[in-house]
Amino acid sequence: MERATQYQLQLARRMSRLGTETAFEVLNKARALERQGKSIIHLEIGEPDFDTPSNVIEAAVDALHKGWTHYGPSAGLPELRQTIADYVSRTRGVKVSSDQVVVVPGGKPIMFFAILSLIDEEDEVIYPNPGFPIYESMIDYVGGRAVPIRLREDRDFSLDVDELASLITNRTKLIIINSPQNPTGGVLQRRDIEQIARVIGDRNVMILSDEIYSRLLFDGAQHFSIMSVPGMQERTILLDGFSKTYAMTGWRMGYGVMPEGLVEAFEKLMVNSCSCVASFTQRAGIAALRGPQEPVEAMVAEFRRRRDAICAGLNQVPGFHCLVPGGAFYAFANIKGTGMDSKQLADYLLYQAGVSCLDGGCFGEYGRGYIRFSYANSMANLMEAVDRITKVSPRWEDSLVASR
Ligand SMILES: Cc1ncc(COP(=O)(O)O)c(C=O)c1O
Repeated sequence: MERATQYQLQLARRMSRLGTETAFEVLNKARALERQGKSIIHLEIGEPDFDTPSNVIEAAVDALHKGWTHYGPSAGLPELRQTIADYVSRTRGVKVSSDQVVVVPGGKPIMFFAILSLIDEEDEVIYPNPGFPIYESMIDYVGGRAVPIRLREDRDFSLDVDELASLITNRTKLIIINSPQNPTGGVLQRRDIEQIARVIGDRNVMILSDEIYSRLLFDGAQHFSIMSVPGMQERTILLDGFSKTYAMTGWRMGYGVMPEGLVEAFEKLMVNSCSCVASFTQRAGIAALRGPQEPVEAMVAEFRRRRDAICAGLNQVPGFHCLVPGGAFYAFANIKGTGMDSKQLADYLLYQAGVSCLDGGCFGEYGRGYIRFSYANSMANLMEAVDRITKVSPRWEDSLVASR
């Protein structure tokens, strides 16, 4: 008997609403070029190029030998939850109990779970644009209404509080803020955060405060969380984690701090998805937070050096203008002066200069006209990248003239 050969895959309709993080696609394209023998400088992916501190690695190895190889509680090991509660209490100046902490595989699931557990169809979520693409993707996925708030270069990519006020309606259920910010490196100052809190007032609106880059701040700046504003903690979900601070992107461990009622929902989502974060990884998380912090300080100092160098270099490229960001490890260059579209230019730089970077449009419509360069790469490679970009710049001008 002949077998049916054509099965038709029928994805659920909601899958068509799910977006993606383009950095991974560009990375694949760049790697394919490398396999063909091309030299590529990777400035597309957002992960520290440093090694995880050795005390953290040793703690994980030790934990493996000691049998931390089984399921654990879905909200996280009690000792890690307590360590995180102490850390957040100390750094945000609020009282957090371990019952308000959920440990998840990376910072991303906190976004996923917050939106899944709070947003019904047609609920509105205000989110930064340009911003981390997963916010919009998840809002669309659950059928919510994604309401972008534009981050403007002339405000150092902070947020216009009057604009925020004009976007809040009685359908607004969640406001997402992110500081230091991806992709702009912009930082919300204490006064900005206090104004945001004032605008939200006593509305029954939750805030997802993405603070994954909270330790990556330069020039002595102090991180300030909306959770620290009196009256806001009970409406705030704080997202933080280990990926960026301790160069632990591949370990997959992050956490959320939130009102206890929401912890139950997050625990349920953990039980329904990943059960728990690997136990030995969590033991390493305890070592990261309790151990020496010098590796973090050394990493931040090196990022600052690179920031200054890459921004100075990019500002010399014809048609580029790059603000010096206050945090994270991204330079977000305005390339409108080149006359090229940012997607076109990012492709041009990849194929003609061997510099892999991201079109600002990957971070939302208001990111168009900008290119994000991650400076999580060696100083030598960053300088080589600037050199390569400068060398091809006369050619993109020629190609524009030719196309007119
Ligand atoms: C703003 C922002 N939030 C969260 C994350 C997710 O971090 P993780 O790798 O821990 O899931 C990232 C990663 O790039 C990010 O840029």
